[in-house]
Amino acid sequence: MKKFFKWVGIVLGGFVGLIAIALVVIYVVSQSRLTHVYQIAEEPISIPTDTASIEKGRHIFQFRGCEACHGENLEGTVYLDDPAVGKVISSNLTTGNGGVGSAMSDSDWARAIRHGVRPNGTGYLFMPSTEFYFLSDEDLGAVIAYIKSVPPVDSSLPASEISFTGRIVMTLVKGITFIPAELIPHDAARPTAPEVGTTPEYGEYLTQSCKVCHGLTMSGGVIPGFPSTWPPAPNITFGGGSALPTWTEDEFINTIRTGKTPEGKELRAEFMPWNSYKFMSDDELKAVFVYLESLPRLEYGNR
Ligand code: HEC
Ligand code: HEC
Repeated sequence: MKKFFKWVGIVLGGFVGLIAIALVVIYVVSQSRLTHVYQIAEEPISIPTDTASIEKGRHIFQFRGCEACHGENLEGTVYLDDPAVGKVISSNLTTGNGGVGSAMSDSDWARAIRHGVRPNGTGYLFMPSTEFYFLSDEDLGAVIAYIKSVPPVDSSLPASEISFTGRIVMTLVKGITFIPAELIPHDAARPTAPEVGTTPEYGEYLTQSCKVCHGLTMSGGVIPGFPSTWPPAPNITFGGGSALPTWTEDEFINTIRTGKTPEGKELRAEFMPWNSYKFMSDDELKAVFVYLESLPRLEYGNR
């Protein structure tokens, strides 16, 4: 009997030891990713100072979703506090107390937004630069001009933080990361932005963020890496099961502006961020509609 307990003890002890080693390995591997220093070549962006450009920057800041995270006065906020991921705390971008504004040079702003990389070279957490990497020099310049123009707001927030569960997920699940800089082709030739117009090409430029949820092909389905409580994204190509072929262009614009579809369905803003996209102009929404119409007409779920 004694012998038996001794063996159980050894097996259990071995098991606990293995788990402890696994946790240490996960910590060390994730820590080396969190402290990785990116070398980003300087990209000279000219920052306009005229009112029209600043107003354009504000428009982009609103419809690209920056305002939804950083706040109407750019004061920053605790956007999400979830033990499964960590603390997503969007920075105060102003020059007030607790804001980063006074410490940022023009190239620091550009590197932060386009590459998701801090002035010290490490990657920001959670800030979705993968969607903003595509912004043209002109649009990026306007956004930075707007950020620099806003009045200071005093608001001190703690830094964003990844939880241990977040580290486990990031280490063990292929394709999931909370450091967007890891997904950006920093050294590749810059993508050329299309001409502004009501064209499918410009519509594609405006819809980088839709693909996160509706899929690269826009045919919808369960969103990978999102909590299981999230609804699947609908098909927004003009293919099987999609509502869009039955909508007019005006009805599409109205849906994004009001969050209500022609069928009377209320789109929940916490899942489908129409309250950011509603800031797009009519021409921008027309471009999005012609882009969706131009896509291969896929059945639901071929993301
Ligand atoms: C999903 C929410 C979210 C959206 C959308 C978002 N951000 Fe952020 N942003 C963050 C978080 C969180 C941080 C802080 C990351 C950290 O501390 O590691 C951040 C950091 C930044 C920083 C760096 C500030 C610093 O602390 O040094 C800048 C600049 C910035 N965001 C600008 C923008 C702009 C411009 C847009 C839109 C084009 C945008 N953000 C959209 C969440 C967001
Ligand atoms: C964060 C995830 C997310 C993003 C980003 C997103 N969507 Fe959605 N979208 C959803 C979800 C989820 C629904 C279903 C919402 C509901 O049922 O309340 C939806 C619904 C829709 C609908 C209604 C479709 C129908 O059949 O009723 C349209 C149209 C739509 N999205 C277009 C877009 C466009 C265009 C973009 C980008 C400009 C976009 N979405 C970005 C998640 C997203």
